[in-house]
Amino acid sequence: MNYIFPKLKQKFKNDDFISEKIYYLVDKLTNEANLEKDEFLYILNNITKKEIEYLFKASYNIKYTYYQNRVYLRGLIEISNYCKMGCKYCGINYKIKTIKRYRLSVDEILECCKQGYHLGYKTFVIQSGEDSYYTDDILIEMIQRIKKEMPDVRITLSLGERSKESYQKLFDAGTDRYLLRHETASRRLYNYLHASFMSFDNRRECLKNLKEIGYQVGAGFMVGSPTQTNEDLVEDLIYLKELDPHMIGIGPYLCHEDTELRGNESGTLSESLIMVALVRLILPKVLLPATTALGSLHTIGREKALKTGANVMMPNISPTENRAKYEIYQNKICTADTSNQCRNCIEGRIAGVGHVIDLGVGDHIDLERITDND
Ligand code: 5AD
Ligand code: FES
Repeated sequence: MNYIFPKLKQKFKNDDFISEKIYYLVDKLTNEANLEKDEFLYILNNITKKEIEYLFKASYNIKYTYYQNRVYLRGLIEISNYCKMGCKYCGINYKIKTIKRYRLSVDEILECCKQGYHLGYKTFVIQSGEDSYYTDDILIEMIQRIKKEMPDVRITLSLGERSKESYQKLFDAGTDRYLLRHETASRRLYNYLHASFMSFDNRRECLKNLKEIGYQVGAGFMVGSPTQTNEDLVEDLIYLKELDPHMIGIGPYLCHEDTELRGNESGTLSESLIMVALVRLILPKVLLPATTALGSLHTIGREKALKTGANVMMPNISPTENRAKYEIYQNKICTADTSNQCRNCIEGRIAGVGHVIDLGVGDHIDLERITDND
């Protein structure tokens, strides 16, 4: 049962009414980068297949104004699939017994970074389940060694919720960015999707702390998760406008049959792209990845995201032998590929939709002057 975007499921007939109001609202959003809650809700409740094209064009044009057709690349290393958290949708949560757990040592992580560096990547996204093995001391050693060997790179961490003190230490050691999806801005949905020991308020507190410390921060959410409503999605837009993060990861919920949410419908490509487009319009300069989840849902999902308003891609540079074990959802792409293959694949895909790779560090546009001078 899918509760969002009711009009998308209807077949469009030529003589069907096209709501001028949607065009008006998209134009208003393009000009003012914001709408009232009920106006967002009107779009989500009423947008049809016909009107989506207009929204996508508006979003693409805004992206083009700031970033043209450049796509920033980040090398993604999934360093551990151990996780102590209980996100009910996630295929590596602590309850899952069907996967083999692995973690990489600092030496192995450094090896991945070096390979990525040779492929031209200037940003490494170091991601894992919430794994207590990675103490501040271990991570600080990792960060310092990466920065010592490759001083011109940016380090992004995506390791989940930690204390403010820990975030501060990792920042002081040389981390530049932190990705922590807020997952949903609806307290009800958050509580539904997560184990009872997890806290909606703490997640938000973490994001606030990361911003205060001075990280370039990434938030994000899933589209089409079980029981999600258009009202919930509007909450995401309102929250993101207020948080004003540097990056926002948006992907469809993809049902994993080994999780307790088995049997649910997955999110769809159009729903996800609508949210990508709306986010581009409310935060015109934000960094928006064409996510792996979009590529896993649809063969050209990531390309469609680039044509809609995304401007970042994250090719995988994890050791191939571990990739299949980082199965947060099923049918994840790139699990049998090498870092080289992903690099070539991504390059081809980007070129295929008239975009070009940008191998700079890819900071948010408001920080680019700082980049040029350091
Ligand atoms: N489907 C889609 N996205 C998922 N994530 C985790 N599990 C799933 C799933 N089943 C997303 C979460 C998390 C990010 C790393 O991956 O949003 O923050
Ligand atoms: Fe990894 Fe295409 S990006 S195989």
